[in-house]
Amino acid sequence: MCGIVGIIGKNPATPLLLECLKRLEYRGYDSAGIAILEQGQIDRYRAEGKIVHLQTLVEKSNPQGTVGIGHTRWATHGVPSVRNAHPHATDLVAVVHNGIIENFRELREMLEKKGHIFTSETDTEVIAHLATEYLNQGESAKTATQKTLQQLHGAFALALLFKDKPDTIFCARRGSPLAIGLGEGEMFIGSDALALAPLTQKICYLEEGDWAEIGKTTFTVYDETNQSVTRPIKQTALTGAMIGKGDYKHFMLKEILEQPAVMGDVLHAYSNPHTMDFAFPEFPLPFEAIASLRIIACGTSYYAGLTAQYWIEKYARIPVTVDIASEFRYRKPPLPKNGVALFISQSGETADTLAALQYAKDQGQTIIGMVNVPESSIARLSDVVLETHAGPEIGVASTKAFTAQLMVLACLSLHLAGKRSLIKEDEKKDLFQALLAIPEAMNQLLLEESPFIQCSNFLLDARDVIYMGRGTSFSIAMEGALKLKELSYIHAEGYAAGEMKHGPIALIDEKVPVIVVAPSDSLYEKTASNVEEVIARKGQVVFIGDKDGIHPFKDKAAITLEMPKIHAFTAPLLYALPMQMIAYHTATLKGTDVDQPRNLAKSVTVE
Ligand code: AGP
Repeated sequence: MCGIVGIIGKNPATPLLLECLKRLEYRGYDSAGIAILEQGQIDRYRAEGKIVHLQTLVEKSNPQGTVGIGHTRWATHGVPSVRNAHPHATDLVAVVHNGIIENFRELREMLEKKGHIFTSETDTEVIAHLATEYLNQGESAKTATQKTLQQLHGAFALALLFKDKPDTIFCARRGSPLAIGLGEGEMFIGSDALALAPLTQKICYLEEGDWAEIGKTTFTVYDETNQSVTRPIKQTALTGAMIGKGDYKHFMLKEILEQPAVMGDVLHAYSNPHTMDFAFPEFPLPFEAIASLRIIACGTSYYAGLTAQYWIEKYARIPVTVDIASEFRYRKPPLPKNGVALFISQSGETADTLAALQYAKDQGQTIIGMVNVPESSIARLSDVVLETHAGPEIGVASTKAFTAQLMVLACLSLHLAGKRSLIKEDEKKDLFQALLAIPEAMNQLLLEESPFIQCSNFLLDARDVIYMGRGTSFSIAMEGALKLKELSYIHAEGYAAGEMKHGPIALIDEKVPVIVVAPSDSLYEKTASNVEEVIARKGQVVFIGDKDGIHPFKDKAAITLEMPKIHAFTAPLLYALPMQMIAYHTATLKGTDVDQPRNLAKSVTVE
C-alpha cells in the first residue's frame, strides 16, 4: 500500500520527509520519491527500490526547501520504475497519491487533447495535469484543488503542492486514511499517525470525503460539500521509540516476542481476573436476540475468525459463518434481521473488508469492528469497536495482532456464553484460568529458539509443504501455511487433517514435509491416524504437540517439536507461535526480506 507524507516546515523538509517515509516502509513499496519547493520551483527526486536509494540521490543535491511532499509507491498502475514513481508533477503542481483513480483513462484522453504531455503509465499523473489545467484557466490553487477532486472517481488519499502557493499543501481523503500533524510553527500530513510519530503526537484525522488547506500554523478542513468543518485533534500515544526496531534484527521478531505482554494487555482490557468477568462494550441488541454471527476478514485475520467459529459455536451456541471479505462483498448474501457482522482487521483499512462492512451495514446488520488501529476507517464505521491492543505492528506478516485477535475472540466467546447463561460457573473458572495462563506459557515457549530453527532448516529446500490440523488446529495450520508462504516464498498449503484422504494425500512422498498441529485435545487420536497415513507414504512429518502427543511419533516423525501442555480451549493461541517462528527462521535462513516480503503490503487498501 502506498504511503504519503507532507511537510510545511521551518527547517529543511528533506531529512524529515525521508524519516517519515522510513516509518511507512512497513506498508510495502517498490519505489519512493519527494518533491521540494526550492527557490520558486518544484524539484523532484525519485528512486526505484528502497528509500536508501532515494537518500543517496537526494544527498547529491541537498535541497534546503522547507516545504515538500513524499511518497512510497506500491505499484498498481504501471511497473515499479523511476518514471512511475511519485511525486508526479507538471511545472506548476506536484502530487502524491495512495489509492486508485478509476476514471483516469478518460481524464488522460481529455487532457492530452488539450495538449498535456504525460510521462508515466500511472493513474496518479492525471491529478497533476488536471489541477494544472484549472490553473491555466485562471483558477486559484484552492479552487483548482476543489475542482480536481470533483472530477476524480475512485479511492484515494492525496497531497498537492503548488509552485505558486509555497506555504500551503492541499490534501484530501476518499477511501484511504490521511492525518494532519500539528507542530510548533509547522504542519505535517501523513497516511497514518505512525508516519508522523517522529514529528508530532498531535493528530487530526480527516473524515471520509474531507479535503484540507494546510498552512504553516493553521489548517482548514472542508467536507465533501466544501463546507468548512472542525475535526477533533487527538493526542496519539505513538512515539518514534514505540515504532522503532530497538535491538531486534527484524520488526517481526520484536513483535513475536512482544506477544506475552500483549496477551496481558488484552486480558487487562477485556477481563477482570478477580471476579472472572469480562468487560465488553454495550451491544446495541440483547445477546439472546443475536440470531447469527457473520465474521468477515482477509488473510491472517480470516484465520482468527475461523478459530473463533469453533469457540463461539461451542460455548455461546450462536451459529457462526466466516467469510473471506473479497468473496462476501460480491456474493452479496442475504442477511437476517437481528444479524451481527464482525469485521476483523489489524489495519482497519483493508479495502475488501471495508467494502464488505459497507454491504452488511446497508443490510441493517449490527457491525462490530475488531481492529488494532482505533482511528481506522473500519472502527469509524462500526457500531461496536473491539480494539486488539497489540500496539503498532510494523512487520508485514501479522503476528502479535493475530494472537491479540484470538485472545479478544476467546474472551468474547465466554462473555457471550455467560450472557446467554450457557456456561456453568466451574467451567467458566476453568476456561478463565486457561486464558490467564497464556502469557506465561508463551513466555516459556519463546525462551528457546533452537527447536524452531531445526524445523526451519528441515523446510529450507522444500518445494511444497503441507500443514494440517483438526478443529481450531485446522485454522492454525492454515495460518502456518500462510506465514511460510508470505515470508519464505516456499509454497505451502493448510488442510483439515480429515481432508487429506480426499485428494491432498496424493501429494505425499519423501520430498514433502508435513507440519502437523496436534495438541492433546479431543481430536488428537483422529489427527494421529492421519499422521500414520502420511508416514505410511513416506511423508516427512514435523509433529508439533505436547509430551504425550509426540511420544508415539518420536521414532516415526522426521522431527517432533514438544509444546507445553495446554488447555484445548487456548491451544490455538500457543500453537500460533511455532507457526510464526518456523516461518520467521526459514525466511531468515533463505535471506528473504522478513519485514517487507516481496509484493506484499501491510494493509491492502486497494482491491
Ligand atoms: C498476514 O500475515 C498478512 N500480512 C495478511 O494476510 C493480512 O492479515 C491481511 O491482509 C488482512 O489485513 P488486515 O488484518 O489489516 O485487514
